[in-house]
Amino acid sequence: MREFKAILVTGGAGFIGSNFIRHIFSKKNFYGIVVNVDKLTYAGNLENLSDIKEKYQGRYFFEKADICDINKIKKIFNKFKIDAVAHFAAESHVDRSIEGPKDFIDTNIFGTFNLLEILRTYERNKDFIFYHISTDEVFGSLGNEGYFYETTPYSPRSPYSASKAASDHLVMAYHHTYGLPVVVSNCSNNYGQYQYPEKIIPLMIANILSEKELPVYGDGKNIRDWLYVTDHCEAIWQIITKGTIGETYNIGGENEWQNIDLVNVLCEKMAIKLGKEKDYYKKLIKFVPDRSGHDRRYAINCDKIKKTLGWKQSVTFDKGLDLTIDWILSNKEWIKNIQNKKEYKKWIISKYKKKV
Ligand code: NAD
Ligand code: TYD
Repeated sequence: MREFKAILVTGGAGFIGSNFIRHIFSKKNFYGIVVNVDKLTYAGNLENLSDIKEKYQGRYFFEKADICDINKIKKIFNKFKIDAVAHFAAESHVDRSIEGPKDFIDTNIFGTFNLLEILRTYERNKDFIFYHISTDEVFGSLGNEGYFYETTPYSPRSPYSASKAASDHLVMAYHHTYGLPVVVSNCSNNYGQYQYPEKIIPLMIANILSEKELPVYGDGKNIRDWLYVTDHCEAIWQIITKGTIGETYNIGGENEWQNIDLVNVLCEKMAIKLGKEKDYYKKLIKFVPDRSGHDRRYAINCDKIKKTLGWKQSVTFDKGLDLTIDWILSNKEWIKNIQNKKEYKKWIISKYKKKV
């Protein structure tokens, strides 16, 4: 089991990164410090960690920095004597990558390259590890049958997935060429607390709350595999501490849903929680023109992490959706603060103009 004194988390103010920081501080066998390096793009939100900042003074540090800024990031490595990196920082939304791919190329490819270049000459201790968090979208799109395995050839089809695929390849190339100790994981769709309300689950919940239209792309029959965010965080913890250097691991929920079925369930759950008739919110569902190049189905085979590290999912979809909805209902301010930002308003207006 690897032990770390100083973990650098890139993108720690985002959805999964902030959940991961929370998760590692809950670990009884972790005594080190966490350095959160985040540029604070529209998706970065320090509110996600305000309690952690209070509770772990002296063990939690925030550095506002762009991973593309090599000199600034180098200084952070040296200042904190970093011995593990959990690299989450990325542009993460497929729709935005279709609107404007440049930020995806800059952060996801060039930013990752920067980190790797720094690490080529950085004095690393024996347990040092660079963990690159990636997505199952690099594998492309499945038909009705089959699953993504660790050995499935990459076939990315959106600017987002292409940029993640490029960064995965760079990470593995630095391992093979320069001996950099790396691991990569490819995970399916996450959901849970602190997810920015542009992704389908928090967007639909937020729209149901304000009785706005629920835009379902195409025929609504595209399939995604859903995993509760803390299950992903636990998988990352197990891989970073026990995973084999130079390997990739698939992580998934084994929980496939057509989008339209998911939206119907969200409508029903929200109706129960808000004291409405079961089908009350379904009238808000609106089928809108499809996303360009919309991948049809993602499905993950995650036997490897289950068999080799003993990880398994612990939160059922029913429970996870309840937890997510309940969290949003008791943190309406969190959503409101985002909705009131100029950037979010601009995004929503342009989204609705195009699709609805
Ligand atoms: P997110 O968009 O919620 O957060 C991304 C964070 O990265 C934000 O805090 C943002 O400010 C920061 N960031 C962006 N550009 C940066 C830069 N140049 N320098 C420093 N910080 C920067 O994303 P997420 O959903 O938490 O995803 C995190 C990672 O997990 C990404 O690498 C993503 O590809 C991967 N992933 C996400 C999912 C999912 O369902 N959300 C699934 C599998 C893998
Ligand atoms: P999303 O949450 O954007 O994640 P990803 O594209 O990375 O899988 O989308 C999940 C699915 O939901 C995807 O098939 C697109 C669909 N979708 C909608 O139908 N309507 C929406 O408003 C959004 C954001 C997504």
